[in-house]
Amino acid sequence: MAPGAFIVFEGPEGGGKTLQAAFLADWLRAEGHEVVQCREPGGTALGERIRDVLLGRKDYAILPEAETLLLSAARAQLVRTVIQPALRQGAIVICDRFAASTLAYQGGGSGLPEEALGDIARFATNGLQPDLVILLDLPVEVGLRRRLDEAGSVNRIDLASRDFHERVRAAFRHLAADDPAHWVVIDATQPVDAVAGEVRKAVRRRLGKLQTRGHGDPPRAQPLPAATTQ
Ligand code: TMP
Repeated sequence: MAPGAFIVFEGPEGGGKTLQAAFLADWLRAEGHEVVQCREPGGTALGERIRDVLLGRKDYAILPEAETLLLSAARAQLVRTVIQPALRQGAIVICDRFAASTLAYQGGGSGLPEEALGDIARFATNGLQPDLVILLDLPVEVGLRRRLDEAGSVNRIDLASRDFHERVRAAFRHLAADDPAHWVVIDATQPVDAVAGEVRKAVRRRLGKLQTRGHGDPPRAQPLPAATTQ
């Protein structure tokens, strides 16, 4: 049995994370791996309710502090009831967004302090960190245009200012640059097949390294990379 691995897709809006996560899951299953897919916020019954509260275009404001705690509640539930049990069974878990999104959106975008976000993230994730984070990067205007073109896909956060989304993108790029051993950046303006090919290459490389590391090794213990607030 292959060792469990935790792969996360991150990035600004409109980068095609959901589609690429589905392609990757199909490919890994065809290669004989057990695959569990999830998304954030969501992935559990509670998490999907929280997603609805957070992303629905409702007539109440949500402060970034409240947003962070709601996202973290969904994450705490997902990690302990879905992701960690699947990893213990040796599955590959593919998650559409994870803790780095909070550093990028609530930290980089909304300006919340990185120390507080780091503490909350460690508590919510139970210390779990991805083996590979795939950043599907693209210019903000291209991503937002894609979202606006997809009927019904625009959420409350998509409607934040252009500057907010620029800060989010910059924060993701800083996180990737600070931790090149675990992050790979892929140009998401490329055709879908080209992106899928780069994703498979990155995953193959990472799974190879995990196999060399071996089953019994302890998970890496490193602090979360700092968010950029600019
Ligand atoms: P999406 O994954 O379908 O794009 O929608 C999720 C939205 O939630 C997206 O606008 C980013 C936002 N989000 C945060 O602001 N912080 C987080 O920690 C997560 C997981 C998502």
